[in-house]
Amino acid sequence: MKRCFMTMVAVMTLTMAGAQTVTPQACEQSIVTPKATGRYLWLPIQESAPEGKVQVIVNGMLQMEQNVRMAREQVDYYVALDLQPYRGKGALKVCVQNVPTGSVCFKKLVQNNDADFALIDEKFRPLYHHTPKRGWMNDPNGMFYKDGVWNLYYQYNPYGSMWGNMHWGHSTSTDLIHWKDEGVALAPDAWGTMFSGSCVLDKGTVVAMYTASRPTPFGGDVQAQCIAFSNDGGKTFKKYEGNPVLTAEDKDFRDPRPFWNEDIKAWNLILAAGQEMRIYSSKDLKDWKYESSFGKEYGNHGGVWECPDLFEIKNEKLNIKNWVLICNINPGGPFGGSATQYFVGQFDGHKFTCESKPEVTKWLDYGKDHYATVSFYNALDNRRTVLAWMSNWQYANQVPTKQFRSANSIPRDLGLFRCGEETYVSVVPSKEMTAVRGAKVKNPTEACEIVIDTKSMTEIVLSNTKGEQVTMRYDAGKQTFTMDRTKSGDVSFSEAFPCVTEAPTYGTIKQLRLFIDRCSIEAFDTEGKMAMTNLVFPSEPYNSIKVKGGKATIYQIEN
Ligand code: FRU
Repeated sequence: MKRCFMTMVAVMTLTMAGAQTVTPQACEQSIVTPKATGRYLWLPIQESAPEGKVQVIVNGMLQMEQNVRMAREQVDYYVALDLQPYRGKGALKVCVQNVPTGSVCFKKLVQNNDADFALIDEKFRPLYHHTPKRGWMNDPNGMFYKDGVWNLYYQYNPYGSMWGNMHWGHSTSTDLIHWKDEGVALAPDAWGTMFSGSCVLDKGTVVAMYTASRPTPFGGDVQAQCIAFSNDGGKTFKKYEGNPVLTAEDKDFRDPRPFWNEDIKAWNLILAAGQEMRIYSSKDLKDWKYESSFGKEYGNHGGVWECPDLFEIKNEKLNIKNWVLICNINPGGPFGGSATQYFVGQFDGHKFTCESKPEVTKWLDYGKDHYATVSFYNALDNRRTVLAWMSNWQYANQVPTKQFRSANSIPRDLGLFRCGEETYVSVVPSKEMTAVRGAKVKNPTEACEIVIDTKSMTEIVLSNTKGEQVTMRYDAGKQTFTMDRTKSGDVSFSEAFPCVTEAPTYGTIKQLRLFIDRCSIEAFDTEGKMAMTNLVFPSEPYNSIKVKGGKATIYQIEN
């Protein structure tokens, strides 16, 4: 009898050690006690569920808190809560609030060491564009090049595929195409969540400058600029203890872009403040002196100005040199929602002067899915290489992917060209895109580049066997290029999605380059006078192309 009892106790302890325990409490609160082993606690997510709170508590002290759509009736996918940082520090508990205690998530919790657990192979995951492995991504942040490595940070929610809990995710690449996931670089702190920003190189140190956005108890967020230092090339950051370094009373006050300006032998900073861009200077990246503001009467003001950039570009052939001020705006884009406008002018370290009349608006890309464009700091050979976020705030949270949301554009290099009285910014696919051109193929595939020699009127129809199609037209008479995605596949998730976008071509176009990658089409004039980026969600890949008035060559893209 005694032996039998001991066996039962042993079995019970084993069961306890094999699973995390869940203790339901009042007011929709539960305490999860993780197992002693297993780095990741996998949280089951239901996207339609309201946000609950997940808190990590060690020895009674709150370590972190995130908003998570814990599954109530059904599990759509899993996100990881990495327990490693909290191990060995005392009693570890995970408290879940605002989730009914009978919810399915409590039965479906999983704990293990498998970083690839329940990873879904999604049909709309691009093959040669950067995407987060899991979770939500928006703006590219803090991009820089150093010692052969391109570093890309991004607005990141590791705890779901919708916007929230802003962190900086990090990826690196040696060729701008293949990206390695480097995990989280900056996590929220007492000053708030990590909004967009940029990195500079200060001798050997990488300095990140970002906006901390902090909700206030009475509604509304406070935004302030902070800095963090990395001495391992951008892998890990230590936040500056004197943060925040720059505050204001403006509500929208964010997205800092510092850069070294040799002309004034000091740092400059440009950031977005409501409907204008503000410029500052500093000797040490900590104390900032206000210099000037730009933008009140200039360009498009249909939305909030965000994510600026400011840099010089030279065109030796044309013997011109200009400063370009990038201004992302949302809403207010030419086809609704988000888009990137820019201004061409001069900058003396104190003030930006626009060359065009205030009523002139210039767009960097005439598609609907090209936002938050910013450039890499320190790219070699005077390159001005940029990435954009390939989505639009009108429907970014609804696009039909699951465990991850959104991709970046292919890398592009900027230059200058003239048309009439104006100077414009040219956009071409970076040379790294040519390096991944593979074999010529007869028909379009899910990952290919299509080069089209145009005539005065060229019509291109991409289609699949389901009758879904995208129609593009170049009209030399009108000097326009259009893309119609109204019948491109799934357009049902947002009324703002089906559309025809139209770009001016500033003269004639001899050749077009189209980049297709499962759920996106990026179209360029080979000379750089036109760029158009649009998402598409066909139920099967487009495998047929018809070109009227022109000739197509199709290349597989190697990834
Ligand atoms: C632009 C933006 C930025 C902000 C970030 C927050 O898409 O609104 O202005 O810093 O996203 O995720």
